[in-house]
Amino acid sequence: MDNILLKEKEKKNKKLLKINKELQEKIKEVQTMNLILQRLDQVTTSKELFTALVNLSGEVTGCDEAHFCIYNREIRDITVIDSFFKDKNNKQLCTGNTETNIIDKVTDDGIPILMRENGGNGSIMAIPLKIRSRVFGALFSRTRNGGRYFTDKDLYFINFLTEKASFLIENLALYESIYENLFSTLYAFVETIEAKDPYTKQHSARVTSYAASIAKAIGCSQEEIDVLYVSGNLHDIGKIGIPDSILLKPGPLTDDEYEVIKKHPSIGSNIIGHFSMWSDEQKIIKHHHERWDGNGYPDRLKAEEIPFLSRILSVADVYDALTSDRSYRKRIHDDIAIKIIRENAGTQFDDRIVDVFLNLFG
Ligand SMILES: [Fe+2]
Repeated sequence: MDNILLKEKEKKNKKLLKINKELQEKIKEVQTMNLILQRLDQVTTSKELFTALVNLSGEVTGCDEAHFCIYNREIRDITVIDSFFKDKNNKQLCTGNTETNIIDKVTDDGIPILMRENGGNGSIMAIPLKIRSRVFGALFSRTRNGGRYFTDKDLYFINFLTEKASFLIENLALYESIYENLFSTLYAFVETIEAKDPYTKQHSARVTSYAASIAKAIGCSQEEIDVLYVSGNLHDIGKIGIPDSILLKPGPLTDDEYEVIKKHPSIGSNIIGHFSMWSDEQKIIKHHHERWDGNGYPDRLKAEEIPFLSRILSVADVYDALTSDRSYRKRIHDDIAIKIIRENAGTQFDDRIVDVFLNLFG
C-alpha cells in the first residue's frame, strides 16, 4: 500500500515539475514579447527603428550578428541599412555569395529560412519584412561558432519582432513623408516672402545656421537642434500676413505700420499651431522678438520666461539683419554688428547666449 502511495506521489511531483517548467517558459515568452513591444514603442524615427530592430534581434536570440537589409533583385545587390555585432571588434559584412543567395530566396518566397552553416558550427536565420504582404527587405542574423544555434522559438520571436517593425516602418515612412512635404510647403512660403524683398533673400536659412552653431556650442540636444531647424527656417512665416506696402517700404515705418509688422510672430505661431507635432516650434516662433528686459513683443516676456531657443534665435536673427543689406540701409560691418550684440547683452539678449555667440563669431 505504502509503495503504491509513494509511486502516486512521485508521479504527481513529476507532473507538477513539468507544469512549473512550462509556466516558467511561458513567463519568459511573455517577458520577451513585452520587451520587444516596449522597445519599439520608444522609437520615433525610422533610423531609430532600424537600430532597435537589429539590436533587439541580437538581444533576444543571443546571435553574433544581425543585419537589416534592403535587396534589389534585378542587380542582386544587398544594401545593409543597420547592423548589430556582439563582438564590436569583429564586424563582418553580410554581402557575400551565401548571404545574397539566402536573402534572394527569402525575399522571393516571402518565407523565413532557418539553417545550419559552417560545417554545422553556426546557424543562419533570415526573415522577410513585408508591408501589405509585399516583401521590402530582410533581417539576416547569424550565430558563428560554439554550438549556439537558432531554435524554432528564436524564429517565433524574431517573426513577431519583424511583423511589428514592418508595421511601424510603414507608419513612420508615411509620417515622415508628410512631415517633409509639409515643411517644404511652408518653407516655400518663406522663400516667396524673401523673394519679394531682394534684401532678405536666404535670411531665414542664414539665421538657422547661426542659431544651430550657437545651440551646438551651448550643448543643446539633437532634438533641440531639430526644433531650431524648423523654427529658424519658418520664424518669419507670419510676414505672409503683412501687406507688401508695409513689408517692402523703403523708408522708415510710421508707428502704426510698425504695430502691423509686430504682428508677424503671432501670425506665424497661428499658422504653425495648426500642426500639433510642432507645438515647441510654435512657441519659439511666437517669442523670437521678445527681449531679455521684457520690452519685446508680442507678450513682453522677460528673461527666463522666454523660451531658451527663442533667445538663441533672437541673437542670430539680429546679427543677420545687421550684417546684410536692407532696403533702407547698407549692411553694417561684422565688427560693428558684433559690438552692437555685445552692448545689448543683458538688455535685449540673454548674456549667456551672447557670450557663446562672441566666442564663435566675435
Ligand atoms: Fe521676425
